[in-house]
Parts: sequence; C-alpha cells; structure tokens
Amino acid sequence: MTVTKSLSPIAALLLASLVASAHAQAPARTPVDFQATLLAEARQANPAFKAFSAERGQTFFTATHGNDWSCSTCHTRNPAQAGAHDKTKKPIDALAPSANPRRFTDAAKVDKWFRRNCKDVLARECTAEEKGDLLTYLLTVKP
Ligand code: HEC
Repeated sequence: MTVTKSLSPIAALLLASLVASAHAQAPARTPVDFQATLLAEARQANPAFKAFSAERGQTFFTATHGNDWSCSTCHTRNPAQAGAHDKTKKPIDALAPSANPRRFTDAAKVDKWFRRNCKDVLARECTAEEKGDLLTYLLTVKP
C-alpha cells in the first residue's frame, strides 16, 4: 500500500514529462503543419510579416537567383508533374502535395532537401518566408 502510494506520483510525473516531450518533439506531419511552423518562424524573424503569398512563391520557384538553376530546372514549371535532376537525369516525383501525397509529410526529408536545393539555387539557405511562400504556392497547384 505504501509502495503504490509513493510510486504513483512518480509514475504520474514520468508520464506527464513523456507526454510533454512527445509534444515538444513531434515533427510536423502535413503540408499545413509545415506551413504553420514556417509562418511562426517568419513572424519571429520579422514581427511585421503578415501572410504568405502563392504568387511570390511561384515567382520564386521559376526564377533563377544568381546561378544557372531555378527550382523549376529540376522540378519543372508545373510542380504537379514529375521532373528530373538536371545533371543526373534521375526522375523526381511531383512536388505538389495534390499530385504526390508524400510531399511535406516528413520533417527530416523536407529540411534536408530545402537545405541542399536552396544552396544549389541561391548559394544560401532559403528563409522561412521564401519556404512558406513556396509551400503556399505548391498547395494551390491542382493535380
Ligand atoms: C538540381 C536539381 C534540383 C533543383 C535545382 C531543385 N531541386 Fe528540390 N529536389 C531535388 C531532388 C533530387 C529531390 C529529392 C528527390 C525527391 O524527393 O523526389 C528534391 C526534393 C525537394 C523537396 C522535398 C519535398 C518532400 O517533402 O519530399 C523540396 C521541398 C524541394 N526539393 C524544394 C526545392 C526548392 C525550393 C528548390 C529551389 C530553391 C529546388 N527544390 C530545386 C532536385 C532539385
């Protein structure tokens, strides 16, 4: 009796901290989750920032940024369509979530490819604002 009485508060605490850490570390899982996270980041970087723009995202996607490549070089100008790597010619599945439900569901994958692709295209990482505009544009693309 005394054992269960002294153990249960500890068990409750452990459980509470497990639940709290699971919440804190839960990766974003849907494109809309990513969009919300990016909006929070963009507002942290610039408190005056209002909202993402699909139009800015589309311009960002198709434009070059000082180097030869744009995002659309590999992903094509239609993100609902499969693309191919400019150098290796390896096929790349469609980037728009409407055409490819696996897109923007895995935080590690999204981070890895944003980092790599932004370095290739802009010679720097993309800002939260740029990523959010782009994702907002991709979410408007019909399959
Ligand atoms: C040189 C070719 C190339 C260019 C240029 C390129 N990408 Fe990619 N991108 C890839 C490849 C390869 C993958 C990984 C293969 C896959 O996921 O199908 C990928 C994957 C991604 C993903 C992963 C999405 C997910 O959830 O699966 C994102 C986001 C992305 N690219 C964004 C961009 C953006 C933004 C730009 C422009 C700044 C860009 N890419 C330019 C080749 C490219």
